[in-house]
Amino acid sequence: MRLYIDSANIESIKMLNDYFPIAGVTTNPSILVKEEKPYLDTLKEIRAIIGTDKELFVQAIGDRAEEIVEEARFISQQISGNVIVKVPVTEEGIKAIKLLAAENIPTLATTVYTAFQALMAAMAGAKYVAPYVNRIDNLAGNGVKVVTEIAQLFKTYELGCEILAASFKNLQQVFEVCLAGAETVTVSPDIIEKMIAFPSTGTDVATFKQQWQDFYGEKATTLINT
Ligand code: E4P
Repeated sequence: MRLYIDSANIESIKMLNDYFPIAGVTTNPSILVKEEKPYLDTLKEIRAIIGTDKELFVQAIGDRAEEIVEEARFISQQISGNVIVKVPVTEEGIKAIKLLAAENIPTLATTVYTAFQALMAAMAGAKYVAPYVNRIDNLAGNGVKVVTEIAQLFKTYELGCEILAASFKNLQQVFEVCLAGAETVTVSPDIIEKMIAFPSTGTDVATFKQQWQDFYGEKATTLINT
């Protein structure tokens, strides 16, 4: 399982990358626009924080396959390190994924709502597919079921493509896609922080510390100074 940050907020990325086992950062046009500055500056700042090994996902916005391919080449030149180009699963997008696979530019097929879209993208050569779990749920669909179906198809046909489940509103959705076989998830900062939050953990830690200091004295704050 790999965990990605679904955000372009520099402060959040700095903190989460420091504290959590983060594999990279995913962005989309909405996420980049929200930062209200030139998008290339934002992407370069993110790269400087996460380093060149971790994956950074950038979405193409062109409509035609040839435009998407040009954007992919441009972004791969502008942003150093491990860059994955996100391509929507339109007809033009599937064509672009095929063309980019031939150039060894890695892609993620995005805006995935059905298992068949994911299957086509994987067959076209996408490295990842991103099913939009919460957006599927909002359409009275079942996002977790779609992830389960994709996992089953990829296993049956031994496709070298991974599921990067996206679009979550709560931690339960994330947990269920992990159980359903998603190899990777991308999650907003507020939900990542909830992954380890549980009141009893804090209470237990405080009790251990108090008992220690009751016996060894207030200055005994670590094993080293005890
Ligand atoms: C991935 O980067 C997707 O674009 C993103 O998870 C979509 O999330 P949303 O449905 O919360 O906008």
